Amino acid sequence: MNGEAASLRIRGSEIELCVRAATLGQDVLDVGKLVASDVFTFDPGFVSTAACTSALTYIDGDAGILLHRGYRIEDLAAESNQLEVAYLLLTGELPTASEFEAFRHSVLAAQAVPAGLYDVCRALPADAHPMAVLNTLSAALAAFEDLAMDMADETARREVAIKLIAKMPTLVAMALRHQAGKPLTEPEPNLDYTANFLAMVLGNTPDAVVVDAMERILVLHADHEQNASTSTVRLSGSTGTNPYAAVSAGIGALWGPSHGGANEAVLAMLEEVGDAEHIDAFLARAQDPDDPFKLMGFGHRIYKNYDPRAAILRASCHEVLESLGTVNSPLLRLAQALEKRALEDDYFVRRKLFPNVDFYSGIILRAIGIPSSAFTTIFALGRIVGWVAQWNEMHRETLKIGRPRQLYLGPGPRAFVAMPDRA
Ligand code: SDX
Repeated sequence: MNGEAASLRIRGSEIELCVRAATLGQDVLDVGKLVASDVFTFDPGFVSTAACTSALTYIDGDAGILLHRGYRIEDLAAESNQLEVAYLLLTGELPTASEFEAFRHSVLAAQAVPAGLYDVCRALPADAHPMAVLNTLSAALAAFEDLAMDMADETARREVAIKLIAKMPTLVAMALRHQAGKPLTEPEPNLDYTANFLAMVLGNTPDAVVVDAMERILVLHADHEQNASTSTVRLSGSTGTNPYAAVSAGIGALWGPSHGGANEAVLAMLEEVGDAEHIDAFLARAQDPDDPFKLMGFGHRIYKNYDPRAAILRASCHEVLESLGTVNSPLLRLAQALEKRALEDDYFVRRKLFPNVDFYSGIILRAIGIPSSAFTTIFALGRIVGWVAQWNEMHRETLKIGRPRQLYLGPGPRAFVAMPDRA
Protein backbone atom coordinates (compact mmCIF):
# COMPACT_ATOMS: atom_id res chain seq x y z
CA MET A 1 0.00 0.00 0.00
CA ASN A 2 1.55 3.33 -0.98
CA GLY A 3 2.01 6.04 1.62
CA GLU A 4 4.54 7.73 3.87
CA ALA A 5 6.76 5.20 5.64
CA ALA A 6 6.40 4.83 9.40
CA SER A 7 7.83 2.27 11.77
CA LEU A 8 6.93 1.01 15.19
CA ARG A 9 9.60 -0.29 17.51
CA ILE A 10 8.19 -2.90 19.90
CA ARG A 11 10.12 -5.31 22.11
CA GLY A 12 13.29 -4.88 20.14
CA SER A 13 11.76 -5.39 16.69
CA GLU A 14 10.81 -2.77 14.13
CA ILE A 15 7.51 -3.06 12.27
CA GLU A 16 7.28 -1.11 9.02
CA LEU A 17 3.89 0.62 8.72
CA CYS A 18 2.64 3.38 6.47
CA VAL A 19 0.73 6.64 6.80
CA ARG A 20 -2.11 7.06 4.31
CA ALA A 21 -2.90 10.62 3.32
CA ALA A 22 -6.39 12.12 3.68
CA THR A 23 -7.67 14.73 1.23
CA LEU A 24 -8.82 16.73 4.29
CA GLY A 25 -8.16 16.30 8.01
CA GLN A 26 -6.11 13.68 9.79
CA ASP A 27 -4.01 11.16 7.86
CA VAL A 28 -4.09 7.60 9.17
CA LEU A 29 -1.44 5.16 10.33
CA ASP A 30 -2.31 1.85 8.67
CA VAL A 31 -1.72 -0.76 11.38
CA GLY A 32 -2.99 -3.75 9.39
CA LYS A 33 0.46 -5.31 9.47
CA LEU A 34 0.31 -5.59 13.26
CA VAL A 35 -1.70 -8.78 12.79
CA ALA A 36 1.66 -10.47 12.15
CA SER A 37 3.02 -9.20 15.45
CA ASP A 38 2.00 -10.16 18.97
CA VAL A 39 0.26 -6.87 19.79
CA PHE A 40 -3.02 -5.29 18.74
CA THR A 41 -3.90 -1.58 18.86
CA PHE A 42 -6.26 -0.73 21.72
CA ASP A 43 -8.74 2.15 21.40
CA PRO A 44 -12.07 1.58 23.21
CA GLY A 45 -14.67 3.99 21.82
CA PHE A 46 -12.54 4.37 18.68
CA VAL A 47 -11.41 7.80 19.85
CA SER A 48 -8.45 7.85 17.46
CA THR A 49 -9.22 4.96 15.16
CA ALA A 50 -10.44 5.20 11.56
CA ALA A 51 -12.47 2.12 10.65
CA CYS A 52 -12.90 2.84 6.95
CA THR A 53 -12.26 5.22 4.10
CA SER A 54 -15.11 7.49 3.05
CA ALA A 55 -15.74 10.40 0.70
CA LEU A 56 -19.18 11.38 1.94
CA THR A 57 -18.76 13.70 4.93
CA TYR A 58 -15.90 15.63 6.43
CA ILE A 59 -15.93 17.14 9.93
CA ASP A 60 -13.31 19.51 11.30
CA GLY A 61 -14.22 19.41 14.99
CA ASP A 62 -11.83 22.18 16.03
CA ALA A 63 -13.07 24.60 13.40
CA GLY A 64 -16.72 23.50 13.59
CA ILE A 65 -16.83 22.62 9.88
CA LEU A 66 -19.18 20.02 8.32
CA LEU A 67 -19.02 19.23 4.60
CA HIS A 68 -21.09 16.77 2.58
CA ARG A 69 -19.15 15.83 -0.56
CA GLY A 70 -17.33 19.15 -0.12
CA TYR A 71 -20.45 21.34 0.26
CA ARG A 72 -20.83 23.32 3.53
CA ILE A 73 -23.72 22.29 5.74
CA GLU A 74 -24.66 25.96 6.06
CA ASP A 75 -25.19 26.19 2.28
CA LEU A 76 -27.05 22.89 2.07
CA ALA A 77 -29.33 23.81 4.99
CA ALA A 78 -30.10 27.18 3.42
CA GLU A 79 -30.30 26.29 -0.27
CA SER A 80 -30.94 22.54 -0.63
CA ASN A 81 -33.46 19.93 0.48
CA GLN A 82 -33.38 16.40 1.86
CA LEU A 83 -33.80 14.58 -1.46
CA GLU A 84 -31.12 16.69 -3.15
CA VAL A 85 -28.74 15.97 -0.25
CA ALA A 86 -29.64 12.28 -0.54
CA TYR A 87 -28.73 12.37 -4.24
CA LEU A 88 -25.49 14.21 -3.44
CA LEU A 89 -24.45 11.71 -0.75
CA LEU A 90 -25.36 8.70 -2.91
CA THR A 91 -23.74 9.87 -6.17
CA GLY A 92 -21.11 12.42 -5.12
CA GLU A 93 -22.51 15.29 -7.18
CA LEU A 94 -25.43 17.74 -6.96
CA PRO A 95 -28.07 16.71 -9.52
CA THR A 96 -29.03 18.63 -12.64
CA ALA A 97 -32.71 19.57 -12.82
CA SER A 98 -33.54 16.49 -14.88
CA GLU A 99 -31.47 14.18 -12.68
CA PHE A 100 -33.19 15.55 -9.59
CA GLU A 101 -36.64 15.20 -11.11
CA ALA A 102 -35.99 11.56 -12.00
CA PHE A 103 -34.59 10.81 -8.52
CA ARG A 104 -37.44 12.65 -6.78
CA HIS A 105 -39.99 10.77 -8.87
CA SER A 106 -38.41 7.41 -8.04
CA VAL A 107 -38.49 8.19 -4.32
CA LEU A 108 -42.04 9.53 -4.26
CA ALA A 109 -43.23 6.51 -6.26
CA ALA A 110 -41.79 4.12 -3.62
CA GLN A 111 -43.22 5.65 -0.43
CA ALA A 112 -46.04 3.12 0.09
CA VAL A 113 -45.35 0.20 2.44
CA PRO A 114 -46.91 -3.30 2.43
CA ALA A 115 -50.39 -3.42 4.06
CA GLY A 116 -49.10 -6.06 6.48
CA LEU A 117 -46.92 -3.42 8.15
CA TYR A 118 -50.03 -1.53 9.20
CA ASP A 119 -51.25 -4.73 10.89
CA VAL A 120 -47.87 -5.09 12.62
CA CYS A 121 -48.08 -1.51 13.83
CA ARG A 122 -51.63 -1.88 15.14
CA ALA A 123 -50.57 -5.02 17.04
CA LEU A 124 -48.08 -3.02 19.14
CA PRO A 125 -49.04 -1.64 22.57
CA ALA A 126 -50.66 1.80 22.43
CA ASP A 127 -48.02 3.17 24.80
CA ALA A 128 -45.02 1.67 22.96
CA HIS A 129 -42.11 4.11 22.62
CA PRO A 130 -42.08 5.50 19.05
CA MET A 131 -38.52 4.26 18.55
CA ALA A 132 -39.65 0.75 19.53
CA VAL A 133 -42.42 1.02 16.93
CA LEU A 134 -40.04 2.37 14.27
CA ASN A 135 -37.44 -0.31 14.98
CA THR A 136 -40.13 -2.99 14.75
CA LEU A 137 -41.50 -1.66 11.48
CA SER A 138 -38.11 -1.18 9.84
CA ALA A 139 -37.09 -4.73 10.80
CA ALA A 140 -40.48 -6.06 9.67
CA LEU A 141 -39.92 -4.48 6.26
CA ALA A 142 -37.37 -7.25 5.65
CA ALA A 143 -40.20 -9.77 6.02
CA PHE A 144 -42.15 -8.19 3.18
CA GLU A 145 -39.45 -7.08 0.77
CA ASP A 146 -37.53 -9.20 -1.71
CA LEU A 147 -34.17 -9.69 -0.01
CA ALA A 148 -32.45 -11.31 -2.96
CA MET A 149 -29.99 -8.77 -4.32
CA ASP A 150 -26.44 -8.64 -5.61
CA MET A 151 -24.77 -6.25 -3.16
CA ALA A 152 -21.96 -5.78 -5.67
CA ASP A 153 -24.42 -4.38 -8.21
CA GLU A 154 -24.46 -0.55 -7.98
CA THR A 155 -27.89 -0.33 -9.64
CA ALA A 156 -29.42 -2.85 -7.24
CA ARG A 157 -27.91 -0.95 -4.29
CA ARG A 158 -29.24 2.36 -5.62
CA GLU A 159 -32.75 0.84 -5.96
CA VAL A 160 -32.83 -0.45 -2.37
CA ALA A 161 -31.37 2.85 -1.10
CA ILE A 162 -34.21 4.71 -2.81
CA LYS A 163 -36.71 2.27 -1.29
CA LEU A 164 -35.42 2.86 2.24
CA ILE A 165 -35.26 6.64 1.82
CA ALA A 166 -38.79 6.54 0.39
CA LYS A 167 -40.38 4.32 3.02
CA MET A 168 -38.83 5.79 6.16
CA PRO A 169 -41.23 8.78 6.27
CA THR A 170 -44.18 6.39 6.04
CA LEU A 171 -42.81 4.22 8.86
CA VAL A 172 -42.01 7.23 11.08
CA ALA A 173 -45.47 8.66 10.44
CA MET A 174 -46.98 5.30 11.43
CA ALA A 175 -44.99 5.37 14.69
CA LEU A 176 -46.18 8.90 15.47
CA ARG A 177 -49.82 8.23 14.56
CA HIS A 178 -49.76 5.02 16.62
CA GLN A 179 -48.43 6.94 19.61
CA ALA A 180 -51.14 9.57 19.17
CA GLY A 181 -53.83 6.89 18.96
CA LYS A 182 -54.83 8.18 15.53
CA PRO A 183 -55.70 6.17 12.40
CA LEU A 184 -52.60 5.21 10.42
CA THR A 185 -52.06 7.14 7.19
CA GLU A 186 -50.62 6.48 3.77
CA PRO A 187 -48.43 8.70 1.57
CA GLU A 188 -50.19 11.17 -0.71
CA PRO A 189 -49.05 10.82 -4.37
CA ASN A 190 -49.13 14.56 -5.09
CA LEU A 191 -47.11 15.93 -2.17
CA ASP A 192 -43.36 16.43 -1.98
CA TYR A 193 -41.17 14.30 0.30
CA THR A 194 -41.13 16.36 3.49
CA ALA A 195 -44.62 17.83 3.06
CA ASN A 196 -45.89 14.29 2.52
CA PHE A 197 -44.30 13.13 5.76
CA LEU A 198 -45.88 15.97 7.71
CA ALA A 199 -49.25 15.39 6.05
CA MET A 200 -49.09 11.72 7.10
CA VAL A 201 -48.24 12.75 10.68
CA LEU A 202 -50.59 15.71 11.09
CA GLY A 203 -53.42 14.39 8.93
CA ASN A 204 -53.65 17.66 7.01
CA THR A 205 -51.63 19.71 4.51
CA PRO A 206 -48.85 21.27 6.56
CA ASP A 207 -48.03 24.98 6.79
CA ALA A 208 -45.12 26.01 4.53
CA VAL A 209 -43.20 27.31 7.58
CA VAL A 210 -43.44 23.90 9.22
CA VAL A 211 -42.35 22.14 6.02
CA ASP A 212 -39.30 24.43 5.71
CA ALA A 213 -38.37 23.84 9.35
CA MET A 214 -38.66 20.07 8.98
CA GLU A 215 -36.72 20.15 5.68
CA ARG A 216 -33.87 21.94 7.42
CA ILE A 217 -33.93 19.53 10.36
CA LEU A 218 -33.75 16.54 8.01
CA VAL A 219 -30.85 18.03 6.02
CA LEU A 220 -28.96 18.79 9.23
CA HIS A 221 -29.36 15.17 10.38
CA ALA A 222 -28.64 13.53 7.02
CA ASP A 223 -25.13 12.23 7.64
CA HIS A 224 -22.31 12.72 10.09
CA GLU A 225 -19.28 10.61 9.17
CA GLN A 226 -18.74 7.45 11.24
CA ASN A 227 -21.02 8.16 14.23
CA ALA A 228 -22.23 5.27 16.37
CA SER A 229 -25.38 4.44 14.39
CA THR A 230 -23.66 4.75 11.01
CA SER A 231 -20.80 2.58 12.24
CA THR A 232 -23.42 0.06 13.39
CA VAL A 233 -24.97 0.04 9.91
CA ARG A 234 -21.51 -0.45 8.39
CA LEU A 235 -20.47 -3.18 10.82
CA SER A 236 -23.70 -5.15 10.44
CA GLY A 237 -23.67 -4.50 6.69
CA SER A 238 -20.11 -5.88 6.49
CA THR A 239 -21.50 -9.37 7.21
CA GLY A 240 -23.44 -9.15 3.94
CA THR A 241 -26.77 -8.90 5.72
CA ASN A 242 -29.63 -7.21 3.88
CA PRO A 243 -29.85 -3.39 4.12
CA TYR A 244 -33.17 -3.52 6.00
CA ALA A 245 -31.51 -5.46 8.84
CA ALA A 246 -28.45 -3.18 8.76
CA VAL A 247 -30.66 -0.07 9.02
CA SER A 248 -32.65 -1.63 11.87
CA ALA A 249 -29.39 -2.14 13.75
CA GLY A 250 -28.59 1.53 13.16
CA ILE A 251 -31.97 2.60 14.52
CA GLY A 252 -31.29 0.66 17.70
CA ALA A 253 -27.92 2.37 18.14
CA LEU A 254 -29.37 5.83 17.44
CA TRP A 255 -31.94 5.39 20.23
CA GLY A 256 -29.33 5.74 22.99
CA PRO A 257 -29.31 9.01 25.02
CA SER A 258 -25.62 9.54 24.27
CA HIS A 259 -26.47 9.60 20.57
CA GLY A 260 -29.74 10.33 18.81
CA GLY A 261 -31.80 9.88 21.99
CA ALA A 262 -30.24 13.09 23.32
CA ASN A 263 -32.82 15.35 21.66
CA GLU A 264 -35.59 13.75 23.72
CA ALA A 265 -33.37 13.92 26.80
CA VAL A 266 -32.71 17.66 26.25
CA LEU A 267 -36.43 18.44 26.50
CA ALA A 268 -36.74 16.30 29.63
CA MET A 269 -33.74 18.12 31.10
CA LEU A 270 -35.12 21.59 30.28
CA GLU A 271 -38.46 20.63 31.83
CA GLU A 272 -36.62 19.34 34.92
CA VAL A 273 -34.56 22.56 35.18
CA GLY A 274 -37.85 24.43 35.02
CA ASP A 275 -36.52 27.98 35.13
CA ALA A 276 -33.29 29.97 34.99
CA GLU A 277 -32.80 30.12 38.77
CA HIS A 278 -32.17 26.37 38.82
CA ILE A 279 -29.55 26.43 36.03
CA ASP A 280 -26.53 26.69 38.33
CA ALA A 281 -27.63 23.66 40.33
CA PHE A 282 -27.83 21.58 37.15
CA LEU A 283 -24.47 22.86 35.88
CA ALA A 284 -23.00 21.81 39.22
CA ARG A 285 -24.54 18.34 38.89
CA ALA A 286 -23.11 18.03 35.36
CA GLN A 287 -19.63 18.65 36.82
CA ASP A 288 -19.98 16.31 39.79
CA PRO A 289 -17.97 13.14 38.98
CA ASP A 290 -20.25 11.23 41.39
CA ASP A 291 -23.42 12.37 39.60
CA PRO A 292 -24.23 10.52 36.34
CA PHE A 293 -26.12 13.61 35.10
CA LYS A 294 -24.74 15.07 31.89
CA LEU A 295 -25.83 18.31 30.28
CA MET A 296 -27.83 16.77 27.44
CA GLY A 297 -27.30 18.36 24.03
CA PHE A 298 -23.81 19.45 25.08
CA GLY A 299 -20.46 17.94 24.15
CA HIS A 300 -19.36 15.89 21.19
CA ARG A 301 -16.68 13.35 20.41
CA ILE A 302 -15.42 15.40 17.47
CA TYR A 303 -16.70 18.97 17.78
CA LYS A 304 -14.51 20.91 20.19
CA ASN A 305 -16.17 24.03 18.84
CA TYR A 306 -19.79 24.94 18.22
CA ASP A 307 -21.53 22.17 16.23
CA PRO A 308 -22.41 24.07 13.02
CA ARG A 309 -25.75 22.27 12.95
CA ALA A 310 -26.58 23.60 16.42
CA ALA A 311 -25.82 27.13 15.28
CA ILE A 312 -28.17 26.75 12.31
CA LEU A 313 -30.88 25.22 14.50
CA ARG A 314 -30.53 27.96 17.10
CA ALA A 315 -31.18 30.56 14.39
CA SER A 316 -33.97 28.43 12.96
CA CYS A 317 -35.61 28.20 16.40
CA HIS A 318 -36.19 31.94 16.31
CA GLU A 319 -37.54 31.99 12.75
CA VAL A 320 -39.91 29.06 13.28
CA LEU A 321 -41.19 30.11 16.70
CA GLU A 322 -41.59 33.70 15.50
CA SER A 323 -43.64 32.62 12.48
CA LEU A 324 -45.68 30.31 14.71
CA GLY A 325 -46.18 33.19 17.15
CA THR A 326 -44.44 31.37 20.01
CA VAL A 327 -41.04 33.10 19.93
CA ASN A 328 -41.44 33.92 23.62
CA SER A 329 -41.49 30.22 24.39
CA PRO A 330 -40.19 29.76 27.95
CA LEU A 331 -38.41 26.63 26.73
CA LEU A 332 -36.41 28.60 24.15
CA ARG A 333 -35.57 31.30 26.66
CA LEU A 334 -34.46 28.70 29.21
CA ALA A 335 -32.32 26.88 26.62
CA GLN A 336 -30.62 30.14 25.65
CA ALA A 337 -30.00 31.04 29.30
CA LEU A 338 -28.62 27.55 29.99
CA GLU A 339 -26.35 27.72 26.93
CA LYS A 340 -25.07 31.16 27.96
CA ARG A 341 -24.25 30.07 31.53
CA ALA A 342 -22.62 26.81 30.43
CA LEU A 343 -20.42 28.59 27.88
CA GLU A 344 -19.25 30.93 30.65
CA ASP A 345 -18.51 28.03 33.02
CA ASP A 346 -14.87 26.98 33.23
CA TYR A 347 -15.73 23.26 33.41
CA PHE A 348 -17.42 23.39 30.00
CA VAL A 349 -14.95 25.88 28.52
CA ARG A 350 -11.89 23.81 29.50
CA ARG A 351 -13.44 20.64 28.09
CA LYS A 352 -14.63 22.47 24.96
CA LEU A 353 -18.20 21.34 25.54
CA PHE A 354 -20.50 23.22 23.19
CA PRO A 355 -24.15 22.68 22.19
CA ASN A 356 -24.53 19.89 19.63
CA VAL A 357 -27.20 19.18 17.05
CA ASP A 358 -29.57 17.86 19.72
CA PHE A 359 -29.65 20.95 21.92
CA TYR A 360 -32.05 23.09 19.86
CA SER A 361 -33.70 20.55 17.54
CA GLY A 362 -36.24 19.48 20.15
CA ILE A 363 -37.50 23.02 20.72
CA ILE A 364 -38.38 23.33 17.04
CA LEU A 365 -39.89 19.85 16.90
CA ARG A 366 -42.01 20.58 19.97
CA ALA A 367 -43.15 23.87 18.38
CA ILE A 368 -44.32 22.07 15.22
CA GLY A 369 -46.24 19.51 17.24
CA ILE A 370 -43.92 16.51 17.50
CA PRO A 371 -44.03 14.90 20.98
CA SER A 372 -40.58 14.72 22.63
CA SER A 373 -40.64 10.91 22.86
CA ALA A 374 -40.79 10.89 19.04
CA PHE A 375 -37.86 13.28 18.47
CA THR A 376 -35.39 10.48 17.81
CA THR A 377 -37.64 9.02 15.11
CA ILE A 378 -37.21 12.36 13.31
CA PHE A 379 -33.45 12.04 13.73
CA ALA A 380 -33.73 8.55 12.16
CA LEU A 381 -35.81 10.02 9.31
CA GLY A 382 -33.01 12.46 8.57
CA ARG A 383 -30.21 9.92 9.04
CA ILE A 384 -31.66 7.18 6.78
CA VAL A 385 -30.05 9.14 3.94
CA GLY A 386 -26.60 8.85 5.52
CA TRP A 387 -27.04 5.26 6.59
CA VAL A 388 -27.93 4.05 3.08
CA ALA A 389 -25.27 6.25 1.45
CA GLN A 390 -22.58 4.90 3.80
CA TRP A 391 -23.85 1.32 3.32
CA ASN A 392 -23.73 1.85 -0.43
CA GLU A 393 -20.21 3.30 -0.25
CA MET A 394 -19.01 0.36 1.86
CA HIS A 395 -20.23 -2.12 -0.76
CA ARG A 396 -18.33 -0.34 -3.53
CA GLU A 397 -15.17 -1.94 -2.17
CA THR A 398 -14.36 -5.59 -1.65
CA LEU A 399 -16.40 -6.45 1.43
CA LYS A 400 -14.35 -7.33 4.51
CA ILE A 401 -16.30 -8.39 7.58
CA GLY A 402 -15.70 -6.11 10.56
CA ARG A 403 -14.30 -8.18 13.40
CA PRO A 404 -12.51 -6.17 16.17
CA ARG A 405 -10.06 -7.94 18.53
CA GLN A 406 -9.69 -7.47 22.32
CA LEU A 407 -7.34 -7.11 25.24
CA TYR A 408 -8.05 -10.39 27.09
CA LEU A 409 -8.03 -10.02 30.89
CA GLY A 410 -9.71 -13.30 31.81
CA PRO A 411 -8.25 -16.42 33.52
CA GLY A 412 -5.69 -18.70 31.89
CA PRO A 413 -6.45 -22.38 31.08
CA ARG A 414 -7.75 -24.38 34.07
CA ALA A 415 -9.12 -27.92 34.63
CA PHE A 416 -12.89 -28.49 34.78
CA VAL A 417 -14.14 -29.32 38.33
CA ALA A 418 -17.21 -31.58 38.67
CA MET A 419 -20.09 -30.01 40.66
CA PRO A 420 -19.69 -32.23 43.77
CA ASP A 421 -16.05 -31.23 44.07
CA ARG A 422 -16.70 -27.49 43.95
CA ALA A 423 -16.40 -25.45 47.12
C1 SDX B 1 -25.03 12.98 18.56
O1 SDX B 1 -20.90 11.03 16.72
C2 SDX B 1 -21.70 11.85 16.17
O2 SDX B 1 -21.39 12.47 15.16
C3 SDX B 1 -23.05 11.94 16.85
C4 SDX B 1 -24.02 12.98 16.26
C5 SDX B 1 -24.48 12.60 14.86
O3 SDX B 1 -24.93 13.50 14.13
O4 SDX B 1 -24.50 11.38 14.57
O5 SDX B 1 -23.41 14.26 16.24
C6 SDX B 1 -25.30 13.07 17.11
O6 SDX B 1 -25.05 11.89 19.09
C7 SDX B 1 -24.65 14.22 19.33
C8 SDX B 1 -24.32 13.92 20.83
C9 SDX B 1 -25.65 13.82 21.60
N1 SDX B 1 -25.40 13.39 22.98
C10 SDX B 1 -25.55 14.24 24.02
O7 SDX B 1 -25.83 15.43 23.91
C11 SDX B 1 -25.38 13.57 25.39
C12 SDX B 1 -24.50 14.44 26.28
N2 SDX B 1 -23.12 14.42 25.74
C13 SDX B 1 -22.19 13.50 26.34
O8 SDX B 1 -22.76 12.28 26.72
C14 SDX B 1 -20.87 13.43 25.55
O9 SDX B 1 -20.49 14.70 25.29
C15 SDX B 1 -20.80 12.61 24.27
C16 SDX B 1 -21.28 11.23 24.46
C17 SDX B 1 -21.58 13.28 23.20
C18 SDX B 1 -19.34 12.58 23.85
O10 SDX B 1 -18.65 11.84 24.81
P1 SDX B 1 -17.07 11.56 24.68
O11 SDX B 1 -16.54 12.03 23.38
O12 SDX B 1 -16.82 10.14 25.07
O13 SDX B 1 -16.43 12.55 25.71
P2 SDX B 1 -16.10 12.18 27.18
O14 SDX B 1 -17.24 11.48 27.83
O15 SDX B 1 -14.75 11.54 27.21
O16 SDX B 1 -16.04 13.67 27.83
C19 SDX B 1 -14.81 14.32 28.09
C20 SDX B 1 -15.04 15.06 29.41
C21 SDX B 1 -15.41 14.14 30.57
O17 SDX B 1 -15.03 14.79 31.77
P3 SDX B 1 -13.55 14.40 32.43
O18 SDX B 1 -13.54 12.89 32.58
O19 SDX B 1 -12.52 14.93 31.45
O20 SDX B 1 -13.55 15.14 33.75
O21 SDX B 1 -16.16 15.96 29.25
C22 SDX B 1 -17.19 15.57 30.16
C23 SDX B 1 -16.91 14.14 30.55
O22 SDX B 1 -17.48 13.86 31.82
N3 SDX B 1 -18.45 15.71 29.42
C24 SDX B 1 -19.57 16.20 29.94
C25 SDX B 1 -20.50 16.18 28.90
N4 SDX B 1 -19.93 15.68 27.79
C26 SDX B 1 -18.67 15.37 28.13
N5 SDX B 1 -19.86 16.65 31.20
C27 SDX B 1 -21.13 17.10 31.38
N6 SDX B 1 -22.08 17.13 30.42
C28 SDX B 1 -21.80 16.68 29.17
N7 SDX B 1 -22.74 16.70 28.23
